[in-house]
Amino acid sequence: MFTIITGAQFGDEGKGKIVDLLAKDYDVVARFQGGNNAGHTVKVGSEVYKLHLIPSGILLESRVLIGPGVVLDPEVLMEEIEMLKGHKVRVDPAKLGIDAKTSIIMPYHIEMDGLREAARETKIGTTKRGIGYAYIDKVARDEVRLAELADRERFLARLEELAPQKEKEIAVMGGDPKLVRDPALIEKYVELGKQLAPFMTDVSREINEALDAGKHVMAEAAQGTHLDVIHGTQKFVTSSSTIAGSACANLGVGPTRVGNVIAIVKAYITRVGEGPLPTELSGELGERLQKAGGEFGTTTGRGRRCGWFDLPLLKKAIALNGYTEIALTKLDVLTGLDPVRICTGYRFNGEGTAYPPELTEELAECEPVYEDLPGWEADLTEVKAFEDLPENARNYVMRLEKLMGVPVRYISVGPGRAQTFKKE
Ligand code: GDP
Ligand code: IMO
Ligand code: MG
Repeated sequence: MFTIITGAQFGDEGKGKIVDLLAKDYDVVARFQGGNNAGHTVKVGSEVYKLHLIPSGILLESRVLIGPGVVLDPEVLMEEIEMLKGHKVRVDPAKLGIDAKTSIIMPYHIEMDGLREAARETKIGTTKRGIGYAYIDKVARDEVRLAELADRERFLARLEELAPQKEKEIAVMGGDPKLVRDPALIEKYVELGKQLAPFMTDVSREINEALDAGKHVMAEAAQGTHLDVIHGTQKFVTSSSTIAGSACANLGVGPTRVGNVIAIVKAYITRVGEGPLPTELSGELGERLQKAGGEFGTTTGRGRRCGWFDLPLLKKAIALNGYTEIALTKLDVLTGLDPVRICTGYRFNGEGTAYPPELTEELAECEPVYEDLPGWEADLTEVKAFEDLPENARNYVMRLEKLMGVPVRYISVGPGRAQTFKKE
């Protein structure tokens, strides 16, 4: 069985939590795109793990893989491995595999991301982790692959080939070109390459062989649907394709293998960085949601903008991903709000619409149209079954389910593993 899990909104929907929860039934969990712009939080007991690159299946028995469509900062990965080892989590080549073709984020990518963002008149609000510039080099065929990093001579030769161009680009951008061939940085990368060499594998081959053997494989996305580089709210997007079809392309698995596609959907909506968010709540209510939901970036610590549930954006996410089921997260955060509002459509150009217009500039002009439902006062964080939710919370979930037209299979009412139940 091949399952794909993606975020249906703008990221931070709770992918890490749900992947960790479901991973016990999977033999392999693979990350297929993005890099350490992602931050996936998994809470087990009193321990909180913030994962940026390693799939959230790492805490269970599954083999975890990083696919060739990921852009990999080797220093961040080694820090993450050390962090996990500090928690007595086994991370060796039998547990973690990284595709030999994975693109490496070089120090000059991080520099260029920062320089470009500083120079932009209208900011994107990138995480400044070098993601966009690493993907530019992949597409330009100027990337350094893990297999090169892992071999000192090949790495040095590749860097000599790439350096003059990178130095020119950085100088034009107003940065210091000496960074590109800084001997200390080069030695650090050579050392990181040595440490990562044993983890190299062929991810597509491993996954296809696992599926042939009847094993269960899960693909874990980073970011969210509307940050997709092709179908998202350009230019306020990330640099990879975040939707379900991207899992097949990036992991080298045929679409005929896909069994199910699970959406991670927050019971409201958040966005970090710039770009339109039609239901955004400014003022007291927005702050209240941000505080109650702990809506601060896992990677950058920035406050996440918060808004009411946006059905048009969700409808588009369903179309883009072909979801078969939904995991609804953070329902507990809505406790105490009355009414709870669902944006069921927009007013755009003087007319009503139930689906987002295609262009970002147009989405920015959309005025949300709301349906109000009565709220609830009870704390939900100890609830263990759908029937035990307050009636108004049940009604909210059932209304969302009806409007989305895709079954809600899991409901999450807190960050912990136990704070999730199935909705039969
Ligand atoms: P991801 O990037 O999609 O994996 O999500 P993040 O980990 O960046 O952000 C989700 C945050 O919400 C994390 O701090 C989680 O621990 C937390 N979380 C996940 N599910 C729930 C939930 O149902 N209720 C509450 N209150 N917090 C949750
Ligand atoms: P997870 O996997 C939320 C946002 C950034 C910025 C835009 C582009 O934790 O859900 P980038 O550094 O990728 O070039 O920034 O994308 N962004 C995310 N927002 N969750 C994420 O990941 C994100 N990764 C990138 O804030 O607006
Ligand atoms: Mg996150």
